[in-house]
Amino acid sequence: MTRTIVSMPGDGIGKTVLPEAIRVLDAVGFDAEYVHADIGWDFWVNEGNPLPDRTIELLKQHKLGLFGAITSKPKNEAAAELKPELRDKGYVYFSPIVSMRQLFNLDLCVRPCRSFQGNPLNFIRRTADGGVEEPPVDAVIFRQGTEGLYCGLEWTDPPATVRGALATHPKWKAFEDVPGRDLAMSVRLFTRNACRRICAAAFAYAEKHGYSSVTICEKPNVLRETSGMMEEMAREVQLDYPDIWVRSTNIDAQMMWLTKNPEDYGVIVAGNMFGDIVSDAFAGLVGGLGFACSGNIGDEVAVFEPTHGSAPKYQELDPPIVNPIAMILSAAMLLDHVGDVAKAKQVRDAIGAVVAEGKVRPYDMMRLPGGPDVISKGAATTSEITDAIIGKLV
Ligand code: NAI
Ligand code: MG
Repeated sequence: MTRTIVSMPGDGIGKTVLPEAIRVLDAVGFDAEYVHADIGWDFWVNEGNPLPDRTIELLKQHKLGLFGAITSKPKNEAAAELKPELRDKGYVYFSPIVSMRQLFNLDLCVRPCRSFQGNPLNFIRRTADGGVEEPPVDAVIFRQGTEGLYCGLEWTDPPATVRGALATHPKWKAFEDVPGRDLAMSVRLFTRNACRRICAAAFAYAEKHGYSSVTICEKPNVLRETSGMMEEMAREVQLDYPDIWVRSTNIDAQMMWLTKNPEDYGVIVAGNMFGDIVSDAFAGLVGGLGFACSGNIGDEVAVFEPTHGSAPKYQELDPPIVNPIAMILSAAMLLDHVGDVAKAKQVRDAIGAVVAEGKVRPYDMMRLPGGPDVISKGAATTSEITDAIIGKLV
């Protein structure tokens, strides 16, 4: 069965890396065709909408997407770049990826962070006798993708009814005299259903892949209601998985433990913002943005993307030098998602072989500052890296 995949390159290096991932999918024999869909800055500037309705329709129809990256800017800067005919017409910029997650309820944001042996960017630590060791990192972060602090319920100068509702809470007293324009608030909203879903997905994954524990990374001692609900749901879901242990860490402490004993963590669950933080932190231990892949998975639709952005300073470089591995790993997640697990493994093994061999390396793996001169210093171009990966497919 030939699948149709919605291809959303977006902006900047999203346009560079997405076609590379498709080359790998073709080479591994994935039976699919790709339809292009518009997303990103140009569509904000020219249409006042970075996620046009036609793109939403394509996703509704085909249900599977690959996404590169988008450029986004703060509200006022974004408004200033709208084309003149669209200015002052009430258009407000929202990140199209956040909109896409909410629109299709892509609430399961999965971010695997696994080290490839031989990657010079892997985390190392000093041993007591002064030596160095490189613990293998194998963490998979399950980040709730639609709620929490990124749910979009926020105000500067909240309406009187909102202030009135807050006034029913004893803690409001400390703020009641603050003038509206001096008061900004973002609501951290968790629902039981979404907490249960992200916990259930994490436990199911842990069982399937042989992890012995699931770590809930929140802050229940302070955020008693929201983090507390996530913990409660984890303990409820755990009842169905008697062999899997629930651990709880606080996000702040987790940031410290991370560089002490990262190998002790496997499946991690967190709300939207803490999940964003903990997944970037783990990604830093396994090679950083050039290696950080993700999937945004809902009941109907799923979209796979690298976690990096559009890296505008590299978009004009010819030949391109950015690392396509994060995008290719995201495409491998798509293969897993549709049940082509053997092909997904082939892709990951091929990346592992290229990394281990160490002959073809992007500039980030060589720890070079990015720029046109990296090629003369021995870095491979984006397409050479893809070619090397394709060459290792077995
Ligand atoms: P970024 O991820 O685009 O780039 C930061 C730095 O990371 C780059 O300068 C580069 O040194 C490195 N980098 C990123 N991807 C790389 C790759 N594939 N290979 C090698 N090095 C890589 O983040 P930045 O500069 O903060 O944001 C640029 C734009 O991207 C902004 O407009 C931001 O809003 C947007 N953004 C979009 C995201 C998305 O589409 N999901 C996520 C993060 C940022
Ligand atoms: Mg992030």
